[in-house]
Amino acid sequence: MRTAEIKRRFLDHFERLGHTVVPSAPLPAVEDPNLLFVNAGMVPFVPYFLGQRAPGAARVASVQKCVRTPDIDEVGKTSRHGTFFQMNGNFAFGDYFKDQAIRYAWELATGGVRAGGLGLDPERIWVSVYLDDDEAIDLWQRQIGLPAARIVRRGKADNYWSMGIPGPCGPCSELFYDRGGAYGRPGGPDIDEERYLEFWNLVFMQYERGPGSDKENYPIVGRLPARNIDTGMGLERMAVLLQGVDNLYEIDEVSPILARAAELTRKRYRAHGTSHPDDVRLRVVADHVRAALMIIADGVTPGNEGRGYVLRRILRRAIRAMRLLGRADPALPELLPIARDCMAPSYPEIAADFGRISDQAYGEEETFRATLRTGTAILDTAITATRRSGGSRLSGQQVFQLHDTYGFPVDLTMEIAAEHGLAVDEAGFRALMADQQARAKADAQARKTGHADRSAYRAVLDAHGATEWLAYQRLETESRVLAMYDADGPVTVAVAGAVVTAVLDRTPFYAESGGQASDAGTITGPDGRAEVIDVQRPVKGLVAHTLRILDGTLAADDTVQAAVDPDWRIGARQAHSGTHVVHAALRHVLGPTASQSGSFNRPGYLRLDFGWRGGLSAQARSEVEDIANQAVRADFPVTVELMPLAAARQAGALALFGETYDDVVRVVEIGGDFSRELCGGTHVDRSAQIAAIAVTSESSVGAGQRRIEAVTGIEAFRYLARERDLVTQLAEQLKAPREELADKVHALIGRAKAAERRAERLQRQLLRAEAVRLVDGAAEVAGFAYAGTTVTDGADPRQLAELVRDSFPADRPGVVTVAVPAGTGSRVVIAANPAAVARGVSAADLIKNLPGGRGGGSAALAQGTRQGQGDLTTVPPAIGALLADA
Ligand code: ALA
Repeated sequence: MRTAEIKRRFLDHFERLGHTVVPSAPLPAVEDPNLLFVNAGMVPFVPYFLGQRAPGAARVASVQKCVRTPDIDEVGKTSRHGTFFQMNGNFAFGDYFKDQAIRYAWELATGGVRAGGLGLDPERIWVSVYLDDDEAIDLWQRQIGLPAARIVRRGKADNYWSMGIPGPCGPCSELFYDRGGAYGRPGGPDIDEERYLEFWNLVFMQYERGPGSDKENYPIVGRLPARNIDTGMGLERMAVLLQGVDNLYEIDEVSPILARAAELTRKRYRAHGTSHPDDVRLRVVADHVRAALMIIADGVTPGNEGRGYVLRRILRRAIRAMRLLGRADPALPELLPIARDCMAPSYPEIAADFGRISDQAYGEEETFRATLRTGTAILDTAITATRRSGGSRLSGQQVFQLHDTYGFPVDLTMEIAAEHGLAVDEAGFRALMADQQARAKADAQARKTGHADRSAYRAVLDAHGATEWLAYQRLETESRVLAMYDADGPVTVAVAGAVVTAVLDRTPFYAESGGQASDAGTITGPDGRAEVIDVQRPVKGLVAHTLRILDGTLAADDTVQAAVDPDWRIGARQAHSGTHVVHAALRHVLGPTASQSGSFNRPGYLRLDFGWRGGLSAQARSEVEDIANQAVRADFPVTVELMPLAAARQAGALALFGETYDDVVRVVEIGGDFSRELCGGTHVDRSAQIAAIAVTSESSVGAGQRRIEAVTGIEAFRYLARERDLVTQLAEQLKAPREELADKVHALIGRAKAAERRAERLQRQLLRAEAVRLVDGAAEVAGFAYAGTTVTDGADPRQLAELVRDSFPADRPGVVTVAVPAGTGSRVVIAANPAAVARGVSAADLIKNLPGGRGGGSAALAQGTRQGQGDLTTVPPAIGALLADA
């Protein structure tokens, strides 16, 4: 039975039983920042299980796309591990429970094929239940009539299901199918899960779990508001059973990819049993190429973090497996279209979007091939050296260097090392990575504070406590100078012109962080005034101001007025809120995968980096700008709220991947759901205060990373005004109304090109006429025709020399010399026609024989310089002599 048919029968069965059929959610699990990809059919329904949202229907069924990668190393080695798979599921939210869940599954699995069932042999089905779930055992025995011998009790690791993260959970009951003696030993799933293939999991969802370390160790934090059903029938596994094939990689939706990979690499699949390394590689290729196709189709792009990294790893593993199979040329252009043809019947959007999908995949293959070329050579050397010296593992240093200098992925190093029977000093590697990160951080900090020695700041902190930080409340404070430093250490008095770093007891200044530039302003004391040029937090809790003393002096212990420039702050708030608005607009246009990877803003300007492959179309760019400005015009309220991190995540606040947050975070909302981010910056009160946003550029900053830049507030108006002035100037100069400018410029360029072509033609005609004149007036020297001239009007001497040479009659040996005055000498071109060369004349020799002659070339044409600017019309004696000898 084909996979598509199994899918259809599943949905029909549950539709008949009153379920609403819902389409698959996209693979990226955007609702839950703890989960990268949807990894089970129930993930989109988590809020219903938790009682956070009311479901539209009490029973639903779906075929959900899933990705699981924790077992990626098992792919190809067992018959049942796939990174991408589809899960058929039926769900009940506070509706039916164990009784029906068991009956419905049994009926479909064992129902006759003619009657719409899947036709499994009931005698070969085994089930497992959770340890103490006597109710389930009872149902299996009495309602279904399953003999006790084919029911096994299993512990938490096997029969208690959760997503692996906090959320709904419960005991479960699984169905297995005995594939027969060819697949392993008898005795049920406890003995052999290859022979007894699990194909359906029925979860009795009743509890909520908290965080934990593994499959078994986590607390149950409470009961769910209702008893629910969540089931998952592995579509690919059912296809394995019904298509009578050995494993997932041989079913109809996958095997064509495997076959093509074998064909390309001239391997015979299963030529030596089933577990030959080449067979494993072919299966890896088949699984991974299909997974990559599905993941890219759902908007993920290869990158170094999160989902992008998972995708990159899958793609790279596939590419490498192909290389190990012997494929030297790019592999994806051959394989991806096959995967598309396998999957497009169920997912037509893949065919429609294949241009974009394949661009991403092929681009990644190119990038990876370049990395591999350098990295592999170096790794091979390291492996050989290690083995030769009798070692059994690569040092952390070697692995680190490969990673740091050549961008060679660590997991790949480990894989390759393992293939050579070597281990890798992972702990050593991680330690070096941690060192490097700490160094980079300290460097950056030291550069920013201009003061590498942070112990001084710690001392201030110990003596006076944390700086009272009032950036959110005030623009001006009366403060005391606690300490000042210059590059050499503490200073007590700073005079005009000096640059020092000052710590105050309290400050209204925003210190650079979260992408927002520090505030500008002044510090005024009893005897002088300073401007604030930078504000940082060199140690947690302490704010340091870098100051330039403008006039008078500033001394430690002074009482000062610390005042933020109000215009600056208005601009900063506009720019930072503008950044959130542009981010939201970007995600609106490109989808939720276009997530910010970094940002910077200062008054009037913002930039935002995000993962995306390929540029934004002009249309996408103006759409982003338009949505952003509509959000400005909507005059959304901007609210700031402090809440526990978990609550912020639950509310869907966007956090930067890889950033660490305190337990209590600040959530900035613009227009409720429109934009919700964790952020410590200063913001406008309502979005209309941003005034305007103009996107000024969109460009690439490294592989798969784009940067969008924009100006905000008055700077946006100024930017647009400058553009308008430019158009006005052009309109004046071109004497055309602005709406006709583009056509006018287009026409002008056309005319200019035509004029250039005409000028070239005329120049050639002139040269030709000159050549004819020279040939006609050529002198007779020892049986040679000789022509010589000096050009001064910008004509190309070489072109003229060649024209003259080629115009001598073929049977008449001819030599031509053309000079252009240059400085006190001349540049010279000499050409000789074939008849002259046949008589032994060489243009290169002739040049060298001229007084002060230098240069070279061939016998037919030479270029160089000579002394003086003497007349060449009559043959120079040096040339005459050579011709006479020829
Ligand atoms: N959620 C259950 C599973 O994925 C059905 O196995």
